[in-house]
Amino acid sequence: MNLKDLYINFFVSKGHKQIPSAPVVPENDPSVLFNVAGMQPLVPYLMGQPHPYGTRLCDYQKCIRTNDLDATGDTTHHTFFEMLGNWSLGDYFKEESIEWSLEFLTKVLNIPVDKLAVTVFAGNKDIPFDEISYNKWLSLGISSSKIAKTIEDNFWIAGESGPCGPDTEIFYFRSEDNIPESFDPEDERWVEIWNNVFMEYYKDANGDVTELPKKNVDTGMGVERTTAILEGVNDNYESSIWKDVIELISNISKIKYEENKTSMRIIADHLRTAVFIAADRAGIKPSNTDQGYILRRLIRRAIRHAKMLNIDINSDWEQKIAKLIIEKNKAYYPEIVDNESVVYEVLKNEKIKFNRTLEKGLREFEKATRDNINIDGQTAFRLFDTYGFPLELTEELAKERGLKVDIEGFALKFKAHQELSRTSSQGKFKGGLAGNSEIETKYHTATHLLNAALKVVVSSDIHQRGSNITDERMRFDFNCDHKLTDEEKQNIEELVNKWIKEEIDVTSEEMNKDEAIASGAECMFVEKYPDRVTVYSIGNISKELCGGPHVKNTRVLGTFKIKKEEASSAGVRRIKAILE
Ligand code: ALA
Repeated sequence: MNLKDLYINFFVSKGHKQIPSAPVVPENDPSVLFNVAGMQPLVPYLMGQPHPYGTRLCDYQKCIRTNDLDATGDTTHHTFFEMLGNWSLGDYFKEESIEWSLEFLTKVLNIPVDKLAVTVFAGNKDIPFDEISYNKWLSLGISSSKIAKTIEDNFWIAGESGPCGPDTEIFYFRSEDNIPESFDPEDERWVEIWNNVFMEYYKDANGDVTELPKKNVDTGMGVERTTAILEGVNDNYESSIWKDVIELISNISKIKYEENKTSMRIIADHLRTAVFIAADRAGIKPSNTDQGYILRRLIRRAIRHAKMLNIDINSDWEQKIAKLIIEKNKAYYPEIVDNESVVYEVLKNEKIKFNRTLEKGLREFEKATRDNINIDGQTAFRLFDTYGFPLELTEELAKERGLKVDIEGFALKFKAHQELSRTSSQGKFKGGLAGNSEIETKYHTATHLLNAALKVVVSSDIHQRGSNITDERMRFDFNCDHKLTDEEKQNIEELVNKWIKEEIDVTSEEMNKDEAIASGAECMFVEKYPDRVTVYSIGNISKELCGGPHVKNTRVLGTFKIKKEEASSAGVRRIKAILE
């Protein structure tokens, strides 16, 4: 049986409820681009909010850590990985957690106990030595020479602030050597496989630590690493998770894995991550900002490495690899099947886009480095702006030749460029109020009306997921589990047009964010807004946090017409509409 199933079955047998894996793009947490740990979607519950599934939970969670992006290519780093987790929300604590971990490893996975070692929190000036965990491990037969006490590595927090606490980490001896008498966590033959965090504290943005209302357990086990261990391979890419993907890349390129492991691992890893990002219901597309930029970097880096393997970039190589990745994961993640065609489209479109400039960009790069000179900011920016080379790609190319890139110089050029485009867009806006963007202003207001009408006609649970306005049309993405019926679309149009005819005033008011939220104002990402916000109201119909601009009265909007309603990604629909 698969590790994920074994794990879930085991914890369900210990009274846990399985919860579904949350999307890789956090839904209500703009502080991070991606979920980096199983606990991330559970933060409100670790802080005390009751969870609808109860106090014992378990899952497998999709995670993305992009700080490892440049480390991929070795045997253990992945940009996308799955984390197994079990949680106690104020229910059981250290003793049960440790006991079950050891039981699962030794009785279910049949790992010999002498191949295991642990670390526990040694204590610091604020928090005492974790004697309970230490004694529990001893009582379960782990000898004291296999229990290391450490400080830094035994306190867990996701980033700078949030729920946190001391942890105990479990290590496996991954080597043919004789197992040393005493455990040294710095010895690389010992690899960490599981982390049990005892979340008792909350650290705020000022660094002040307070106790949480309840004592929680948060654990995390890496699927890729543990699978490799169970299958007795030292290279994660030789485990069943990757083996056939690597084989496929090898077949496509007609190059053996041994001949270029790094490029094959990068292609396998990056395309897997790209599949999961593109399939996420947030509807991320490659772009030059935030998640979209990560997606772009991953795809473009994979393309360059495919080129290094002499793969014909114009063939459907990336589609074949994505198809296999989807095939291998579909039983666990239905969204990658629901959004299969979106994934193929994203990969293909980005490939076509990058292919147009890749050759020329590479030539430009060769020319710039002909005399083995470092890449200056201007060149790096040109490669980025004209040839679509993410900065990191230029850095990688440079590194391969032992050269450097002037990052600061790039940043200056980048900033100057941004300022230029900002000024020009402001210019456009100024002129636009009299001309072009009068219509954009109208579309802004129509967007609020559409948002409100969807709530009346379809469901009060509908919220904005994205919006885009040009002077030709408006586009609005929202969560919805079904294709809108003709009747729904008609009712929405009629309602918006009724409001337009009612000649309702649009007013704005500045207030504190908390006050605005408390008054029921609609808002996409609470955290994204400053403390003082502007709230636009359209009579009693709509109230939204918004930067504007808006028309003064709905009467000027004309007639609202839905042109298209389609899927944007799983659970997200998209309406394109016009004003006539
Ligand atoms: N949240 C803990 C980790 O990510 C379990 O290691």
